[in-house]
Amino acid sequence: MNDLVADALYNDPDFQNAAQKILKTAAKHSEKITKISPPKANLTQSYEETLKTFNQYRGMDLFYPYLGSGAGNGALVELADGSVKYDLISGIGVHFGHSHPKLIAASLDAAIEDIAMQGHLQQNRSSFELTELLVESARLPHCILTTSGAMANENALKLAFQKKAPAHRILAFEKCFMGRTLALAQITDKAAFREGLPHLIHVDYVPFYEWRDPAGSTKRTLAALDTLLSRHPGKYACMCFEMIQGEAGCNPGKKEFFIEIMRKLKENGIAVIVDEVQTFGRTENLFAFQSFGLQEYVDIVTVGKLLHLCATLYTEEFRPKPGLIAQTYTAASASIHGAKAIVDSLLNDGYLGPLGKNMQLRKHFVDHLQKIADKYPDNFEGPFGMGLMIAATPFKGEREKVLAYAKALFKAGVITFIAGTNPTRIRFLIPPGGITTEALDEVSTILEEVLVACLKK
Ligand SMILES: Cc1ncc(COP(=O)(O)O)c(C=O)c1O
Repeated sequence: MNDLVADALYNDPDFQNAAQKILKTAAKHSEKITKISPPKANLTQSYEETLKTFNQYRGMDLFYPYLGSGAGNGALVELADGSVKYDLISGIGVHFGHSHPKLIAASLDAAIEDIAMQGHLQQNRSSFELTELLVESARLPHCILTTSGAMANENALKLAFQKKAPAHRILAFEKCFMGRTLALAQITDKAAFREGLPHLIHVDYVPFYEWRDPAGSTKRTLAALDTLLSRHPGKYACMCFEMIQGEAGCNPGKKEFFIEIMRKLKENGIAVIVDEVQTFGRTENLFAFQSFGLQEYVDIVTVGKLLHLCATLYTEEFRPKPGLIAQTYTAASASIHGAKAIVDSLLNDGYLGPLGKNMQLRKHFVDHLQKIADKYPDNFEGPFGMGLMIAATPFKGEREKVLAYAKALFKAGVITFIAGTNPTRIRFLIPPGGITTEALDEVSTILEEVLVACLKK
């Protein structure tokens, strides 16, 4: 018996049958996308004109001449010029798989909710269910949903500052990335990202983990931390961590390194913020801090990207006073249902664990990259990264050459992205729910062919 009209609607066989029919129809068309292909001659001119106008409207150029058609199949995506490409960057870590049936089903469930956007004042049951899922899987008691990774990080900083007031400084790692709001652009360790912006908060940096020298690296970072702590005693509210530095080039830290630093922070009453916007869902565990065994040290954790919405999770100690945290939107209903579907799939469809799909896909791809590195030792270094955050350094990391390589790969049908400066790397954030080992075989052949073509130029 359905006590609620909403349940009667969801359980209505007419809706269920219609949803099944839509899913079948979507699959029928998606299945036609089976391999990479060049643009269609009759679409090329209008595509180029549309992109030109789009760039004009935006007031800046897109990185790639990319405009999706709205269809795809797993790791394959159709562009509006009729070309089909392998998507090995998935919107910088967002897409679970193009035209993924679970996400289409989730969107259909969202489509019949009474509201398209949910917000902090009025949330539907789907928001509660997702919040509960995140709280239980993070084993942290509190969670607030939000619209972007940057907003999740802003909320994290506010929780830390309020709790630790009047401490007002922040500690961060060199080369970190936290987002692009005015405050976060101060923390993100890239001068170009804050050019012309006012200086709003005080951030001090310590070196990140250096895998070539584990013991020395830990020693140097602890020493740098000691220096800062004695220079500004009692002034630090928090330290921001990425378990694997994504924008810096997919550089993982190490458990022992993190523990030593986090212990020192705890001794000094400084909050530990772990930014999992890029790492979420990409290692052996849902959260990378779990893969590093850091549960007891984390105070505040932010997530985004692959989750399809963003959130700030936190311990009891960091509960805010009324007024600190609010926002009109939490997310679109489609994001909330999508996030539920993705977390459910990651947890129950064999993605996690040392032998899960994430690690199997990694191993398969990394083996290919290693072969390329062995064959072209002067021009392809790596592979680097952890889990499904993977990178390599072509052409000794020379930025212009790596950029040219990424753009040539795009033309050849493989979408990647760059990361890091000095060295600049080629980065892969593969869609875990969409890619196959056969696709990775084909991608690897193209990576090598395009590398050789670039070398000849
Ligand atoms: C580690 C990290 N934190 C925060 C962000 C910001 O997320 P968003 O772009 O959703 O604001 C990103 C985005 O790349 C990120 O990689």
